[in-house]
Amino acid sequence: MAFEKTIASLQGAYAILLISKKEPDVIFFAKNAVPLILGKSHENEVYFSSSDAPLIGWAKEVIYLEDGQYGWVKNQSITLLKEFEPQSLHFKTLTKDKILAQKDGFRFFMEKEIYEQSLVAGEAIMGRIKDHTIVLDELNTLCFDDIDAIKICACGTSYHAALSASYMFERLAKIRCNVEIASEFRYKQPLLDKRTLFIVISQSGETADTLEALKMAKSSGMTTLAICNVDNSSIVRTADFTLLTRAGIEKGVASTKAFATQVITLWLLTLFVAQHKKSITPEILSSEIEALLHIPLVLKVDEAIHEKLHRLSKRYLHGHGFFFIGRDIFFPLALEGALKLKEISYLHAEGYPAGEMKHGPIALADSELFTIALMPKTLLYDKMKSNVEELSARDSTLLVISPEPFELADDFIKTKQHKHPMGEFFEMMLITQLLALEISIRLGNDVDMPRNLAKSVTVE
Ligand code: AGP
Repeated sequence: MAFEKTIASLQGAYAILLISKKEPDVIFFAKNAVPLILGKSHENEVYFSSSDAPLIGWAKEVIYLEDGQYGWVKNQSITLLKEFEPQSLHFKTLTKDKILAQKDGFRFFMEKEIYEQSLVAGEAIMGRIKDHTIVLDELNTLCFDDIDAIKICACGTSYHAALSASYMFERLAKIRCNVEIASEFRYKQPLLDKRTLFIVISQSGETADTLEALKMAKSSGMTTLAICNVDNSSIVRTADFTLLTRAGIEKGVASTKAFATQVITLWLLTLFVAQHKKSITPEILSSEIEALLHIPLVLKVDEAIHEKLHRLSKRYLHGHGFFFIGRDIFFPLALEGALKLKEISYLHAEGYPAGEMKHGPIALADSELFTIALMPKTLLYDKMKSNVEELSARDSTLLVISPEPFELADDFIKTKQHKHPMGEFFEMMLITQLLALEISIRLGNDVDMPRNLAKSVTVE
């Protein structure tokens, strides 16, 4: 048959659905190297998708097609083949929870997902702390004695989670950690060392660049670990080890709860490695665990702050740009805050290390440059303060997020006092997410489906 012959001669990555004039009641399908999922409803309707999330509420069971598989659907009957051989259909039940596909009274899925973060943070931790130690059963057979460095590869928001983790790995686990953007890593002819643990982070588990980086590391003989939200995804199926982030289905294209659970999972992993390498005292481990257990509470949305952000947002709909600035782990958070804003508001925003502004970007400062300053009390407060003062002296409009009142601020969001920097990290994360949401809503944008973006980026 022409379709089979054509597929047999194709090279590279593809997911194909084809309808021909000659047989208009048949859908031909084929896939290689990028995801294609076939779903079936109670009424035997057939669906195709690149991830399972959009099928929830429609299909009851799915097949995650393998590379090289192809076939056709005619009159609700499915034929599946590989290399001209018929294949049996192994359907897996898809979650029946239609609730997951509903907004529950929220205006957008993204808003619902921001509010869910407290709950899913608890899920991410559940069963992973026992008797004052971190227990990651999934990694029982991973031999940390053979590992003396960590390399993390990811894209977008997942890359920001990776950057946050690099501070934690070096500071707490005392292990060298280096982070790379997956699309850059792939073509730089990297030197790969078998004593380096290769970690990929992905919400969807289908990001092509991250998947290919993972395959490169795996074929070089490195031990690979996926931090992922979607079980059965291509990245999970490829990696040697997986830690699921347990955020639940994330429908909003702009990632929120997936990021929060990635950082929590990486924090758990840091402490797990630290335990193994005996790089922290039992006292520090206990205080880290105490701080971790407090995060679900930190992530409860304070309605008064949400309301304040709603009111403030009307002042931030114009200008020639936003700079989100922070230091240490608040620098990746600044990057993430800026990414959230640009994804859904289409306003220009950058994340920058606060101490780096004086090396160039401060030239942009004027009253139409909006600076969102992350000023935690527990980490480098005075350093951050002087960086922000420099911007204020150049008349930049300042929105300061801090537990300490800051008299030069044009707008001020007061956060709670925390003992641990990660408490401040998650509270500020929540605030930057809500700020982006409120600005986007005021601008009349489609928050959940921003222009030009897709939930799973399965192309290079
Ligand atoms: C997040 O808001 C973005 N939509 C995007 O940057 C995303 O994080 C990136 O494409 C990586 O996706 P992944 O986590 O599914 O691999």
